[in-house]
Amino acid sequence: MTVDNKTGKSSNGAEIELLQEEIRRLKKEKGAVILAHFYQKGEIQDVADYIGDSLALAQIAEKISEPVIVLCGVHFMGETAKILCPEKKVLIPDENAGCSLADSCDAKEFETFVKAHPDHTVISYVNTSAAVKALTDVVVTSSNARDIVETFDKDAKIIFGPDRNLGGYINSITGRNMLLWDGACHVHEQFSLEKIVELKKTYPDAKLLVHPECKRVIVMLADKVGSTAALLNYAKSSESKQFIVATESGILHQMRKACPEKEFIAAPPIDSTRGCNDCNYMKLNTLEKLRDCLRDGKPEIEVDKTIAERARKPIERMLELSKK
Ligand code: 13P
Ligand code: SF4
Repeated sequence: MTVDNKTGKSSNGAEIELLQEEIRRLKKEKGAVILAHFYQKGEIQDVADYIGDSLALAQIAEKISEPVIVLCGVHFMGETAKILCPEKKVLIPDENAGCSLADSCDAKEFETFVKAHPDHTVISYVNTSAAVKALTDVVVTSSNARDIVETFDKDAKIIFGPDRNLGGYINSITGRNMLLWDGACHVHEQFSLEKIVELKKTYPDAKLLVHPECKRVIVMLADKVGSTAALLNYAKSSESKQFIVATESGILHQMRKACPEKEFIAAPPIDSTRGCNDCNYMKLNTLEKLRDCLRDGKPEIEVDKTIAERARKPIERMLELSKK
Protein backbone atom coordinates (compact mmCIF):
# COMPACT_ATOMS: atom_id res chain seq x y z
CA MET A 1 0.00 0.00 0.00
CA THR A 2 1.57 3.33 -1.04
CA VAL A 3 0.71 6.75 0.36
CA ASP A 4 0.53 9.89 -1.80
CA ASN A 5 2.84 12.49 -0.24
CA LYS A 6 0.58 15.38 -1.25
CA THR A 7 -2.83 14.06 -0.20
CA GLY A 8 -1.78 11.61 2.52
CA LYS A 9 -4.24 9.14 0.86
CA SER A 10 -3.39 5.54 0.38
CA SER A 11 -3.43 4.15 -3.17
CA ASN A 12 -5.67 1.39 -1.91
CA GLY A 13 -8.60 3.80 -1.81
CA ALA A 14 -11.45 1.27 -2.10
CA GLU A 15 -10.22 -0.76 0.84
CA ILE A 16 -9.81 2.40 2.92
CA GLU A 17 -13.34 3.57 2.13
CA LEU A 18 -14.82 0.20 3.08
CA LEU A 19 -13.04 0.29 6.42
CA GLN A 20 -14.15 3.86 7.02
CA GLU A 21 -17.77 2.91 6.29
CA GLU A 22 -17.54 0.02 8.72
CA ILE A 23 -16.06 2.33 11.36
CA ARG A 24 -18.86 4.88 10.89
CA ARG A 25 -21.47 2.12 11.26
CA LEU A 26 -19.83 0.64 14.39
CA LYS A 27 -19.42 4.10 15.89
CA LYS A 28 -23.19 4.69 15.73
CA GLU A 29 -24.02 1.20 16.92
CA LYS A 30 -21.75 1.49 19.99
CA GLY A 31 -22.54 5.11 20.89
CA ALA A 32 -18.92 6.12 20.35
CA VAL A 33 -17.18 9.36 19.47
CA ILE A 34 -13.81 9.33 17.71
CA LEU A 35 -11.24 11.96 18.71
CA ALA A 36 -8.07 12.13 16.62
CA HIS A 37 -4.84 14.03 17.12
CA PHE A 38 -3.33 15.91 14.15
CA TYR A 39 -0.47 13.37 14.05
CA GLN A 40 -2.75 10.46 13.17
CA LYS A 41 -2.72 8.96 9.68
CA GLY A 42 -4.85 11.04 7.26
CA GLU A 43 -7.32 8.19 6.78
CA ILE A 44 -7.98 8.11 10.54
CA GLN A 45 -8.36 11.90 10.73
CA ASP A 46 -10.92 11.64 7.91
CA VAL A 47 -13.17 9.32 9.91
CA ALA A 48 -12.89 11.20 13.22
CA ASP A 49 -15.68 13.29 14.77
CA TYR A 50 -13.16 15.75 16.17
CA ILE A 51 -9.54 16.44 15.21
CA GLY A 52 -7.34 18.64 17.36
CA ASP A 53 -4.21 19.36 19.34
CA SER A 54 -3.71 18.03 22.88
CA LEU A 55 -5.59 20.93 24.47
CA ALA A 56 -8.58 20.69 22.13
CA LEU A 57 -8.84 16.92 22.63
CA ALA A 58 -9.00 17.37 26.42
CA GLN A 59 -11.54 20.20 26.11
CA ILE A 60 -13.73 18.15 23.76
CA ALA A 61 -13.50 14.95 25.87
CA GLU A 62 -14.83 16.86 28.88
CA LYS A 63 -17.99 17.84 26.97
CA ILE A 64 -18.87 14.57 25.22
CA SER A 65 -22.21 12.99 26.11
CA GLU A 66 -21.77 9.60 24.35
CA PRO A 67 -20.74 6.68 26.59
CA VAL A 68 -17.65 5.66 24.57
CA ILE A 69 -14.64 7.75 23.52
CA VAL A 70 -12.10 6.34 21.07
CA LEU A 71 -8.91 8.34 21.42
CA CYS A 72 -6.86 8.06 18.24
CA GLY A 73 -3.62 9.41 19.60
CA VAL A 74 -1.15 8.25 22.22
CA HIS A 75 -1.66 6.75 25.66
CA PHE A 76 -1.32 9.94 27.75
CA MET A 77 -4.10 11.54 25.65
CA GLY A 78 -6.36 8.58 26.42
CA GLU A 79 -5.47 8.86 30.11
CA THR A 80 -6.35 12.55 30.13
CA ALA A 81 -9.77 11.75 28.60
CA LYS A 82 -10.35 8.94 31.13
CA ILE A 83 -9.35 11.17 34.07
CA LEU A 84 -11.79 13.85 32.89
CA CYS A 85 -14.57 11.34 32.12
CA PRO A 86 -14.14 8.47 34.61
CA GLU A 87 -17.65 7.13 33.96
CA LYS A 88 -16.98 6.69 30.24
CA LYS A 89 -15.29 3.87 28.40
CA VAL A 90 -12.13 5.26 26.78
CA LEU A 91 -10.62 3.12 24.03
CA ILE A 92 -7.35 3.44 22.12
CA PRO A 93 -6.76 1.49 18.87
CA ASP A 94 -3.25 0.36 19.92
CA GLU A 95 -2.38 0.22 23.60
CA ASN A 96 1.34 0.37 22.77
CA ALA A 97 0.97 3.89 21.40
CA GLY A 98 3.20 5.53 24.01
CA CYS A 99 5.28 8.72 23.93
CA SER A 100 9.07 9.05 24.25
CA LEU A 101 8.65 12.41 25.97
CA ALA A 102 6.27 11.01 28.61
CA ASP A 103 8.67 8.08 29.02
CA SER A 104 11.55 10.48 29.67
CA CYS A 105 9.93 11.37 33.00
CA ASP A 106 9.70 8.46 35.40
CA ALA A 107 7.16 9.22 38.15
CA LYS A 108 9.39 7.98 41.00
CA GLU A 109 12.37 10.04 39.82
CA PHE A 110 10.14 13.06 39.28
CA GLU A 111 8.76 12.69 42.80
CA THR A 112 12.31 12.74 44.22
CA PHE A 113 13.05 15.87 42.16
CA VAL A 114 9.85 17.58 43.34
CA LYS A 115 10.53 16.65 46.99
CA ALA A 116 14.02 18.12 46.70
CA HIS A 117 12.39 21.50 45.83
CA PRO A 118 9.44 21.76 48.22
CA ASP A 119 9.07 25.53 47.71
CA HIS A 120 8.50 25.17 43.93
CA THR A 121 5.22 25.10 42.00
CA VAL A 122 5.15 22.12 39.66
CA ILE A 123 4.05 22.72 36.05
CA SER A 124 3.89 19.65 33.82
CA TYR A 125 3.41 19.38 30.10
CA VAL A 126 0.40 17.23 29.19
CA ASN A 127 2.80 14.69 27.60
CA THR A 128 3.23 12.90 30.94
CA SER A 129 1.82 9.83 32.65
CA ALA A 130 -1.13 10.18 35.04
CA ALA A 131 1.31 9.40 37.88
CA VAL A 132 3.44 12.45 36.98
CA LYS A 133 0.32 14.62 36.64
CA ALA A 134 -0.65 13.50 40.15
CA LEU A 135 2.57 15.21 41.41
CA THR A 136 1.75 18.40 39.52
CA ASP A 137 0.09 21.73 40.44
CA VAL A 138 -0.96 22.70 36.93
CA VAL A 139 -0.78 20.94 33.57
CA VAL A 140 -0.06 22.83 30.34
CA THR A 141 0.00 22.05 26.62
CA SER A 142 2.03 23.80 23.95
CA SER A 143 -1.09 25.91 23.23
CA ASN A 144 -1.36 27.48 26.67
CA ALA A 145 2.07 27.01 28.35
CA ARG A 146 3.10 30.64 27.92
CA ASP A 147 -0.19 32.10 29.22
CA ILE A 148 -0.32 29.75 32.20
CA VAL A 149 3.31 30.34 33.19
CA GLU A 150 2.63 34.08 33.00
CA THR A 151 -0.15 33.76 35.60
CA PHE A 152 2.70 33.24 38.11
CA ASP A 153 4.94 36.05 39.41
CA LYS A 154 8.12 36.62 37.43
CA ASP A 155 10.27 35.47 40.33
CA ALA A 156 8.03 32.52 41.31
CA LYS A 157 9.92 29.28 41.89
CA ILE A 158 8.71 26.80 39.29
CA ILE A 159 9.64 23.29 38.22
CA PHE A 160 8.75 22.63 34.56
CA GLY A 161 8.73 19.09 33.22
CA PRO A 162 9.38 17.05 31.28
CA ASP A 163 10.31 18.80 28.00
CA ARG A 164 13.57 20.76 28.25
CA ASN A 165 12.99 22.33 24.82
CA LEU A 166 9.48 23.64 25.51
CA GLY A 167 10.56 24.69 29.03
CA GLY A 168 13.63 26.52 27.67
CA TYR A 169 11.52 28.24 25.02
CA ILE A 170 8.95 29.39 27.60
CA ASN A 171 11.79 30.63 29.86
CA SER A 172 13.20 32.63 26.93
CA ILE A 173 9.92 34.32 25.94
CA THR A 174 8.63 35.00 29.46
CA GLY A 175 11.90 35.96 31.17
CA ARG A 176 11.32 33.18 33.72
CA ASN A 177 13.98 30.91 35.13
CA MET A 178 12.02 27.72 35.64
CA LEU A 179 13.89 24.63 36.77
CA LEU A 180 13.71 22.19 33.85
CA TRP A 181 13.37 18.42 33.81
CA ASP A 182 15.78 16.97 31.24
CA GLY A 183 13.31 15.22 28.91
CA ALA A 184 12.65 15.42 25.17
CA CYS A 185 10.69 13.97 22.25
CA HIS A 186 12.68 11.76 19.86
CA VAL A 187 10.76 13.07 16.81
CA HIS A 188 11.16 16.79 17.49
CA GLU A 189 14.82 16.52 18.51
CA GLN A 190 15.77 15.02 15.15
CA PHE A 191 15.31 18.03 12.83
CA SER A 192 18.51 19.07 11.11
CA LEU A 193 19.49 22.74 11.22
CA GLU A 194 21.87 22.30 8.27
CA LYS A 195 19.20 20.66 6.11
CA ILE A 196 16.60 23.31 6.97
CA VAL A 197 19.08 26.05 6.03
CA GLU A 198 19.74 24.22 2.73
CA LEU A 199 15.99 23.88 2.10
CA LYS A 200 15.54 27.62 2.68
CA LYS A 201 17.89 28.20 -0.29
CA THR A 202 15.54 26.18 -2.54
CA TYR A 203 12.41 27.80 -1.06
CA PRO A 204 13.59 31.30 -0.04
CA ASP A 205 10.02 32.59 0.45
CA ALA A 206 8.83 29.65 2.51
CA LYS A 207 7.81 30.31 6.12
CA LEU A 208 9.31 27.97 8.70
CA LEU A 209 6.71 26.53 11.10
CA VAL A 210 8.16 24.96 14.24
CA HIS A 211 6.72 23.06 17.21
CA PRO A 212 8.28 24.21 20.51
CA GLU A 213 9.41 20.65 21.31
CA CYS A 214 12.16 21.23 18.70
CA LYS A 215 15.69 22.20 19.72
CA ARG A 216 16.43 25.87 20.41
CA VAL A 217 18.49 26.36 17.21
CA ILE A 218 15.49 25.35 15.09
CA VAL A 219 13.02 27.39 17.18
CA MET A 220 15.24 30.48 16.76
CA LEU A 221 14.95 30.25 12.95
CA ALA A 222 11.15 29.92 12.96
CA ASP A 223 8.64 32.34 11.46
CA LYS A 224 6.01 30.76 13.71
CA VAL A 225 6.45 28.66 16.85
CA GLY A 226 3.33 26.97 18.18
CA SER A 227 1.23 23.93 18.93
CA THR A 228 -0.07 21.83 16.05
CA ALA A 229 -3.31 23.86 16.03
CA ALA A 230 -1.42 27.17 16.10
CA LEU A 231 0.80 26.09 13.16
CA LEU A 232 -2.26 25.02 11.17
CA ASN A 233 -4.03 28.33 11.85
CA TYR A 234 -0.92 30.27 10.85
CA ALA A 235 -0.70 28.34 7.55
CA LYS A 236 -4.39 29.09 6.85
CA SER A 237 -4.19 32.82 7.52
CA SER A 238 -0.72 33.52 6.09
CA GLU A 239 -0.39 35.07 2.65
CA SER A 240 2.66 32.92 1.99
CA LYS A 241 2.36 30.09 -0.49
CA GLN A 242 5.12 27.81 0.83
CA PHE A 243 5.83 26.45 4.29
CA ILE A 244 8.57 24.27 5.74
CA VAL A 245 7.02 22.32 8.60
CA ALA A 246 9.16 21.16 11.55
CA THR A 247 6.83 18.87 13.44
CA GLU A 248 5.34 15.41 13.01
CA SER A 249 4.21 14.75 9.44
CA GLY A 250 0.55 13.98 10.29
CA ILE A 251 -0.23 17.71 10.53
CA LEU A 252 0.49 18.06 6.78
CA HIS A 253 -2.81 16.26 6.06
CA GLN A 254 -4.97 19.04 7.55
CA MET A 255 -2.68 21.76 6.17
CA ARG A 256 -3.02 20.41 2.62
CA LYS A 257 -6.76 19.89 3.00
CA ALA A 258 -7.29 23.42 4.31
CA CYS A 259 -4.94 25.10 1.80
CA PRO A 260 -4.77 23.01 -1.39
CA GLU A 261 -3.22 25.94 -3.27
CA LYS A 262 -0.25 26.16 -0.86
CA GLU A 263 2.83 23.98 -0.68
CA PHE A 264 3.91 22.26 2.54
CA ILE A 265 7.38 20.77 2.78
CA ALA A 266 8.29 18.46 5.67
CA ALA A 267 11.49 19.66 7.38
CA PRO A 268 14.20 16.98 7.00
CA PRO A 269 15.41 14.90 9.92
CA ILE A 270 19.16 14.50 10.66
CA ASP A 271 19.06 10.89 9.49
CA SER A 272 17.25 11.02 6.14
CA THR A 273 17.33 7.21 5.82
CA ARG A 274 14.45 7.43 8.31
CA GLY A 275 12.54 9.09 5.45
CA CYS A 276 10.10 11.37 7.22
CA ASN A 277 9.06 12.73 10.55
CA ASP A 278 6.58 10.12 11.64
CA CYS A 279 6.03 9.48 15.33
CA ASN A 280 6.24 5.69 15.41
CA TYR A 281 3.88 5.67 18.42
CA MET A 282 1.20 7.80 16.80
CA LYS A 283 1.43 5.72 13.64
CA LEU A 284 0.77 2.45 15.51
CA ASN A 285 -2.93 3.29 15.22
CA THR A 286 -4.43 2.06 11.95
CA LEU A 287 -7.92 1.94 10.46
CA GLU A 288 -8.02 -1.83 11.02
CA LYS A 289 -7.14 -1.44 14.72
CA LEU A 290 -9.68 1.37 15.05
CA ARG A 291 -12.39 -0.87 13.55
CA ASP A 292 -11.38 -3.77 15.84
CA CYS A 293 -11.36 -1.65 18.98
CA LEU A 294 -14.84 -0.28 18.22
CA ARG A 295 -16.13 -3.79 17.50
CA ASP A 296 -14.50 -5.47 20.55
CA GLY A 297 -14.63 -2.60 23.07
CA LYS A 298 -10.89 -2.92 23.79
CA PRO A 299 -8.07 -2.01 24.41
CA GLU A 300 -9.53 0.17 27.15
CA ILE A 301 -7.63 2.88 29.04
CA GLU A 302 -7.72 2.39 32.80
CA VAL A 303 -6.25 4.78 35.38
CA ASP A 304 -5.77 3.92 39.05
CA LYS A 305 -8.56 5.74 40.96
CA THR A 306 -6.32 7.42 43.56
CA ILE A 307 -3.88 8.63 40.91
CA ALA A 308 -6.75 9.76 38.67
CA GLU A 309 -8.30 11.84 41.46
CA ARG A 310 -4.98 13.59 42.13
CA ALA A 311 -4.20 14.05 38.42
CA ARG A 312 -7.64 15.52 37.71
CA LYS A 313 -7.03 18.71 39.72
CA PRO A 314 -4.06 20.05 37.71
CA ILE A 315 -5.80 19.15 34.43
CA GLU A 316 -8.98 20.96 35.51
CA ARG A 317 -6.90 23.91 36.63
CA MET A 318 -5.41 24.06 33.13
CA LEU A 319 -8.86 23.89 31.51
CA GLU A 320 -10.12 26.62 33.80
CA LEU A 321 -7.13 28.86 33.02
CA SER A 322 -7.60 28.23 29.29
CA LYS A 323 -11.17 29.52 29.18
CA LYS A 324 -11.31 32.74 27.21
P1 13P B 1 0.18 19.50 20.47
O1 13P B 1 -0.25 19.81 21.86
O2 13P B 1 0.76 20.66 19.77
O3 13P B 1 -0.91 18.84 19.74
O4 13P B 1 1.41 18.46 20.55
C1 13P B 1 1.29 17.19 21.08
C2 13P B 1 2.48 16.38 20.85
O5 13P B 1 2.56 15.22 21.17
C3 13P B 1 3.61 17.03 20.22
O6 13P B 1 4.57 16.10 19.92
FE1 SF4 C 1 5.30 11.95 22.10
FE2 SF4 C 1 6.98 13.04 20.38
FE3 SF4 C 1 5.17 11.29 19.51
FE4 SF4 C 1 4.41 13.77 20.33
S1 SF4 C 1 5.67 13.26 18.56
S2 SF4 C 1 3.45 11.82 20.86
S3 SF4 C 1 5.88 14.13 22.00
S4 SF4 C 1 6.87 10.87 20.93
